[in-house]
Amino acid sequence: MLTAYDYPTAKLLDEAGIPALLVGDSLGMAVLGHESTLAVTLENIIYHLRAVVRGARRALIIGDMPFLTYQADPAEAMRNAGRLLAEGGAGAVKLEGGRWLVPTIARLVQAGIPVMGHLGLTPQSVHQLGGYKVQGKTPEAAEQLLADARALEEAGVFAIVLEYVPAELARAITAAVSVPTIGIGAGPYCDGQVQVITDLLGMEPEQPRRHARVYAPIGQLIREAASQYLHDVQTGAFPSARESFGLAKSEVAVR
Ligand code: KIV
Repeated sequence: MLTAYDYPTAKLLDEAGIPALLVGDSLGMAVLGHESTLAVTLENIIYHLRAVVRGARRALIIGDMPFLTYQADPAEAMRNAGRLLAEGGAGAVKLEGGRWLVPTIARLVQAGIPVMGHLGLTPQSVHQLGGYKVQGKTPEAAEQLLADARALEEAGVFAIVLEYVPAELARAITAAVSVPTIGIGAGPYCDGQVQVITDLLGMEPEQPRRHARVYAPIGQLIREAASQYLHDVQTGAFPSARESFGLAKSEVAVR
């Protein structure tokens, strides 16, 4: 699974055969320039979902439920998840949290909405967690995460994202539940992996995150292309006659 936020990227990822595209609330940081995911709205996700849905023909498109669109009560979660499917065109939704979300997840699943869970580092709780830190490091915390994963499975999720947990804990959770686990910063033992597309393409201005790998330095290529373009326009090297329409300069009548 990869995140996608726009039409051309979704089209390319879909053509490459990526089976699931997540319109994650990471778009707040990756695309919209926010400090965290907390400012992302349901409208933001719907807007980007529509573009991704137009680009992808085969992939399952999952819409992230933003902060405060599902936490308050199951009925509100139902209405908002429904909008991601009906207006955004998503095939499933994802939400962050453990056992306390069981009634909400069960309600969505009963209504026919496929739900993906998200445990471990849940970025919408960054202020409570005290930063973007690895979760489940003590035996007690690991037990809690295992219990949460079992509860989500019981509630009916079709998969669980495990973010920033020790690899051995991810392995134990993967063995304990029958639904697929999808890891990010959770080591190699999950059933699948998810990455943020801008990390994969080296678009982040800072150093790549430890769990991420830059597969193509597109960020650097964009910077180089832009500065070459600027140079060519300033020196008159672009556009050339080949890149212009119609008459050569000498034939243009100047009034
Ligand atoms: O918002 C997002 O992109 C996510 C992934 C990191 C799993 O939740």
